[in-house]
Amino acid sequence: MNYDAFFTDAIGRVRRELRYRVFADLERIAGRLPRAIWHSPQGPREVVIWCSNDYLGMGQHPKVIGAMVEIATRMGTGAGGTRNISGTNHPLVELERELADLHGKEAALVFTSGYVSNQTGMATAERYDAMTYLDEVHAVGMYGPAGAGIAAREGVMQRIDVIEGTLAKAFGCLGGYVAGSANLVDAVRSYAPGFIFTTALPPAICAAATAAIRHLKSSQSERTRQQECATRAKSALTAAGLPIMRSETHILPVMVGDPEKCKRASDLLLSEHGIYLQPINYPTVPRGTERLRITATPYHDDVLIDQLAEALTDVWRRVALPLEGCLIDAAE
Ligand SMILES: Cc1ncc(COP(=O)(O)O)c(C=O)c1O
Repeated sequence: MNYDAFFTDAIGRVRRELRYRVFADLERIAGRLPRAIWHSPQGPREVVIWCSNDYLGMGQHPKVIGAMVEIATRMGTGAGGTRNISGTNHPLVELERELADLHGKEAALVFTSGYVSNQTGMATAERYDAMTYLDEVHAVGMYGPAGAGIAAREGVMQRIDVIEGTLAKAFGCLGGYVAGSANLVDAVRSYAPGFIFTTALPPAICAAATAAIRHLKSSQSERTRQQECATRAKSALTAAGLPIMRSETHILPVMVGDPEKCKRASDLLLSEHGIYLQPINYPTVPRGTERLRITATPYHDDVLIDQLAEALTDVWRRVALPLEGCLIDAAE
């Protein structure tokens, strides 16, 4: 088989469907969120990021960075192997205790990726036929009085058997987890290939995640400010006549409805306005509903919000998209 032709053909298909991705080469500047250096083809340039999943900026919080540096200095970088081989590093034990406590469950199990914990946890929930499984990946840290997510906010956490979360979004680190009964966690630990055959999270990442979770358990200021910024951004974009999609969460989707225009709008925002906002295309969303998905952090102030509204208005005109000023009913 001509593998090279096979891969060229596969890439050609993605290009023809107008969903070929070019990753922006970005360097975040710790302490200056949401700013980053974009290593553009013409050289480095400062830009403002409007689509990060580090929703609360915890990835740059001094307590989180401090915990990571301290533990890396004391315990080194890697985990040294899978947990079956290398045992469990102590910061990982503390992290799982912290997560179980956050969700009011008997136990929690950390995976190296939230995506893997999703696959494993879903399979577990389906084995037992009638368990309740809730993916709170985008909600942990963000909602509820201590940042435990939507179920906590709604007061129904005890009715959910398995809660899945990530350490990679509002907690600003890496890794995923499930929290549930001690028995369930023990079973997943004993059977799940995605857990057994992957190297454990390094101790410094675990310590950083624990620091973020602990901080957000007691501090409301990041959540409050993030919601204020998201509300302010929504009003500014709506006032500018941009087609904002209805959303009850911190995510603010702006409908484009065409993959080519979506990519062009995103390119113009970056090259002409220094704003990084990734196009969201099929298969993440259905074809014909391509969009820009804005995430405000607590650090997107009024000046940045006004700049975003002006830049989007300019780009909408240049790409010949309508400025109708309506709220669109569709899934986020
Ligand atoms: C709904 C949902 N579940 C799970 C995941 C996986 O989480 P992680 O990025 O930690 O692998 C994501 C990632 O974006 C997600 O959007």
